[in-house]
Amino acid sequence: MEHALPPSPVHVLETAVRPAAVMVRGAGDELFDQDGKRYLDFVQGWAVNSLGHSPEAVARALRTQASALVHSSAGYFNAPQVQLCTTLARLSGLERTFLCATGAEANESAIKLARKWGQRERGGAWEIVTTADAFHGRTLATMSASGKSAFAPLFEPKVQGFRKVPFGDAAAVEAALDERVAAVLVEPIQGEAGVVVPPRGYLRQLRELCSAQGVLLMFDEVQTGVGRTGALFAFEHEGARPDVMTLGKGLGAGVPLAAMLCDARVACFEPGDQGGTYSGNALTSAVGQAVLEAVTAPGFLDHVNAMSVKLRGVLEALVPRGLVASVRGAGLLLAAELPAATASDVVRRAHAEGLLLNAPRPNLLRFMPALNVLPASIDELAERLPGLLEAAGRS
Ligand SMILES: Cc1ncc(COP(=O)(O)O)c(C=O)c1O
Repeated sequence: MEHALPPSPVHVLETAVRPAAVMVRGAGDELFDQDGKRYLDFVQGWAVNSLGHSPEAVARALRTQASALVHSSAGYFNAPQVQLCTTLARLSGLERTFLCATGAEANESAIKLARKWGQRERGGAWEIVTTADAFHGRTLATMSASGKSAFAPLFEPKVQGFRKVPFGDAAAVEAALDERVAAVLVEPIQGEAGVVVPPRGYLRQLRELCSAQGVLLMFDEVQTGVGRTGALFAFEHEGARPDVMTLGKGLGAGVPLAAMLCDARVACFEPGDQGGTYSGNALTSAVGQAVLEAVTAPGFLDHVNAMSVKLRGVLEALVPRGLVASVRGAGLLLAAELPAATASDVVRRAHAEGLLLNAPRPNLLRFMPALNVLPASIDELAERLPGLLEAAGRS
């Protein structure tokens, strides 16, 4: 083997604009790069590290499972897979789960399930209503289902069959429903679009419309699920259980784990319709079980909601000072709209000073700390953020 090539980021295919720092270690709310620089992390892998960096619950599940069974092929059941699917059925009321590795793969599964179901149960209907500015992933079908305008010119021709309607507008969904539509797919809160919260009652209205028209309701809870919005699943806020739900991100707390859950009535896949080498992988499934045990432990969601109030208070206190225009979101998926398009400048300055923030829009900062974020970390953010906003506003 050739050892002459020193490790260099140049060999990482460029698919993102990244700062030069190379991360080597994380603990809770903190991340450290190879020079030992500390970062306070309010990105947490884009709402992935639900239990913070390198949590003991995940490390323990990995250690225990790795020495028992890592992988046995998707062609056999394994104990952690069966346990995790059973836990998800109990917690969500959706009795069937397909486990996979990424949110895009989970949504791809939902799209395929809707098409198969439409073929069987709705006279060949195969179209899916999705929403403007939605984000469902980066496979070709999930990019096509997304409503992100930057995706529009890419990788043509797109996968056909997605009808886009404005987000938060139940009447627009109603108008789009006809005999060619098999399903409606929406995020309960649009994450990548900038934490866009629909009007209260929207999810419930979609539930009623889909039930009345005999169309599948599918919620993409890849970002909102597993405690992120202060309830275990965002659909619980309106008691609007979907027929199909996708999870990812926080479910694996940093290991690649995602899921498509569906009601037993609509579980129409037959052997061979869907699968994947790593579907139901024992190691990642064991982590998913440990994460769900942590998130459903007594008091855990109370902490999420208490930290949500605290973080929201920190951001709202900046409104009278003219540093923030408005605050929105739920649980620990919060966003601060800025008075000007300075968000990427704030992110750059913050990174230089050892604070990790995210800017999904030119005038918007999104905050997605660990669900077990420490109050002291929010206090530290409160101390450091105003100076960064002021500096970016001056330049
Ligand atoms: C709502 C939503 N769906 C799907 C995805 C895609 O998930 P993944 O990047 O794991 O494929 C994301 C990722 O940001 C998301 O926020």
